[in-house]
Amino acid sequence: MKRTTFGLFILLLFFCTGSAGAQEDIKITHGPYLQNMSHNEVTIAWLTNKNAISWVELAPDDDTHFYVTERPKYFAAKNGVKSEGVVHAVKLTGLEPGTRYRYRVFSQEVAGRQNHHIFYGKVASTAAYQTGPLSFTTNDYTKKDVTFTVINDIHGRSDMMKTLLEIAAPAKNDLVFFNGDMVSSMNSEKELFDGFMDVGVETFAKEIPMYYCRGNHETRGPFATRFQDYFSPLNPELYFLVRQGPVCFVVLDCGEDKPDTDIEYSGITVYDEYRTQEMTWLKEALKQKEFTEAPFKVAICHMPPFGGWHGEQEVLEKFVPLLNDAGIDIMLCGHLHRHIKKEAGPQVKFPVLANGNEAVIKGRITRDELALDITGLDGKQVDRINIRK
Ligand SMILES: [Fe+2]
Repeated sequence: MKRTTFGLFILLLFFCTGSAGAQEDIKITHGPYLQNMSHNEVTIAWLTNKNAISWVELAPDDDTHFYVTERPKYFAAKNGVKSEGVVHAVKLTGLEPGTRYRYRVFSQEVAGRQNHHIFYGKVASTAAYQTGPLSFTTNDYTKKDVTFTVINDIHGRSDMMKTLLEIAAPAKNDLVFFNGDMVSSMNSEKELFDGFMDVGVETFAKEIPMYYCRGNHETRGPFATRFQDYFSPLNPELYFLVRQGPVCFVVLDCGEDKPDTDIEYSGITVYDEYRTQEMTWLKEALKQKEFTEAPFKVAICHMPPFGGWHGEQEVLEKFVPLLNDAGIDIMLCGHLHRHIKKEAGPQVKFPVLANGNEAVIKGRITRDELALDITGLDGKQVDRINIRK
């Protein structure tokens, strides 16, 4: 027996004799959750406990059973090769606007490799029979009204976040924004999911799109550079436009709050340069039809353009002049851990709301009205903002 064939034989024996059976089966450990939903695309992300290849099966929202036929499969892949790992992301493209789709995610364990041979293990998937498949609805520029939820500065307090989401009931809304500082430091995947994301998945994120506006605390810690493995994973940048119905949201990534040379950043950050690049993007993004033709224009940015710290000054100097010219209606921020509302003025020509760290924003926007209800952890109204056109 040739050495390679013998090796293969031993490996096969290992999998067939039950030695591998003593180990835990593959399972979905977190998610799935929706990212970067647009009118024709969505990314679905999830995690498994074992290395796997992954795919999504997609079905229209008709009256057929999910099992009536083999559904088309969309694989997690890059440059023609299926991706193997424990963090999975599949982008579905070419979708119809304002359309509900049913979906199911699958991961098949990659149990071993020898040369070009791959030994596949069991498959884990979301349900399609007992509980019915999951579903999502793509964004729609023509939708008449939009409801949304914004939370920020959770800092890993997942129990508090759960209470805020009970108040806001995001599963009944169209979209959700996490407006930064969801953890205090990016230390590990476990802290990410324990700190806020598992609550997000349980509450809404399997079926309602969540858009993550990174705060300054997500930029800290040994796990910080892994942020985009989980959020906006297949997007080119962490800043983007979101158009839904009569509103276009401009989601900005504010970077850190102190100068890049500060001792706290250990010489690892170049956020001044990053914000300049983002400014170049913003200039072009604000010319896009999805933005210019939207009746309401809302900026989402973790740090407000006031407070006097370096990062806030940068938001003021690099983003605000462009946002002023583009006719932004309101900017939603967090960061300061208290409720601050500033009216439009000569320098910032739109109102800015810095939401507190224990309050949730519930928004509703139609073609002629923007209404924001801000509710505290105790269920009492903190503020209400109305902008009419
Ligand atoms: Fe912050």
